[in-house]
Amino acid sequence: MRILVTGGAGYIGSHTCVQLLEAGYEIVVADDLSNSSETAIHYIKGITGKEFPFYPVDLKDRERTEQLFELEPIDGVIHFAGYKAVGESVERPLMYYENNLVSTMNVLQAMRKRGIFHFVFSSSATVYGDPEILPIPEEAPLSATNPYGCTKLMNEQMLKDLYQSDNRWNITLLRYFNPIGGHPTGLLADNPNGIPNNLMPYIIRVYENKLDQLHVYGNDYPTPDGTGVRDYIHVIDLADGHVAALDRMKEPGVHIFNLGTGTGYSVLEVVRAFENVNKCRIPYVIDPRRAGDIAMCYADPSKAERELGWKARRSLEEMCKVVLI
Ligand SMILES: NC(=O)c1ccc[n+]([C@@H]2O[C@H](COP(=O)([O-])OP(=O)(O)OC[C@H]3O[C@@H](n4cnc5c(N)ncnc54)[C@H](O)[C@@H]3O)[C@@H](O)[C@H]2O)c1
Repeated sequence: MRILVTGGAGYIGSHTCVQLLEAGYEIVVADDLSNSSETAIHYIKGITGKEFPFYPVDLKDRERTEQLFELEPIDGVIHFAGYKAVGESVERPLMYYENNLVSTMNVLQAMRKRGIFHFVFSSSATVYGDPEILPIPEEAPLSATNPYGCTKLMNEQMLKDLYQSDNRWNITLLRYFNPIGGHPTGLLADNPNGIPNNLMPYIIRVYENKLDQLHVYGNDYPTPDGTGVRDYIHVIDLADGHVAALDRMKEPGVHIFNLGTGTGYSVLEVVRAFENVNKCRIPYVIDPRRAGDIAMCYADPSKAERELGWKARRSLEEMCKVVLI
């Protein structure tokens, strides 16, 4: 099977490209490099020893997106491309709505034109809003607390509507919890352009002395140590979830899965694990809570285990280990 990986130069996309190639899939990558660099493409090829076409295409450009499908035979798409910073989405909502919705629509239009109906979408635990039930099952109520979350919900709705209109579509919505960690070679990691929005790349910038200290937003949440609790998952486990979804989800429909470990760790637990495993100190300061942040969020991942035969395997220590190259 030949898979178009949009956003394949990005953090989760690049790790997924490696796992797909190692599982025997052929890939084509499209990424406008707005939050990544072409180095990731070279590293994917170096790690796997396999070649594949790369297109530096902005998927908001409908014509260029359609050209890509004319040039390359494609059987299915994993759609990672999108913007992901919650804070930035609050400041620049139109930029988020435009990029995260228009690029999905262009890809879907191009697929429909060419009779390709196999689509895997990068959704997020953010679609559960402030969850009422923990661990969170897939059928929990959905809501959004910021424009980024709204784009994920809208994309999910668009995909459900699409299947209702034409039941040849085979759509998988993968709701990721909090991916961290990197490839054991040290070549691929979460290395966003600019100041990181997520915990682990921020910790790593402090570790590398590129930032002075970590900002911990709130220590008065109703959690064991007062800091927010999240379901951190190793990015390679997450990448393997995509391979499992392609392997198993052969029937048309809208298939929805949580990809998480089922265990929650607090911000301070992650900081301590990072310090222990890398033998270092991470200075931090406690700041006020960030608007829109929630106290606790962790998955019930049992559906993915039952139906995809997939389960996260790597420990928090493995997620925190920095590989020096
Ligand atoms: N990292 C997380 O914590 C997390 C959690 C839940 C969901 N997600 C979703 O998973 C997907 C991948 O996330 P990531 O962490 O790898 O982010 P990332 O920013 O590292 O990767 C996204 C990639 O998409 C590319 N891109 C963005 N807009 C594009 C466009 N219009 N055309 C072509 N390429 C474009 C970027 O250059 C980048 O390489 C995103 O959709 C994100 O919302 C991420």
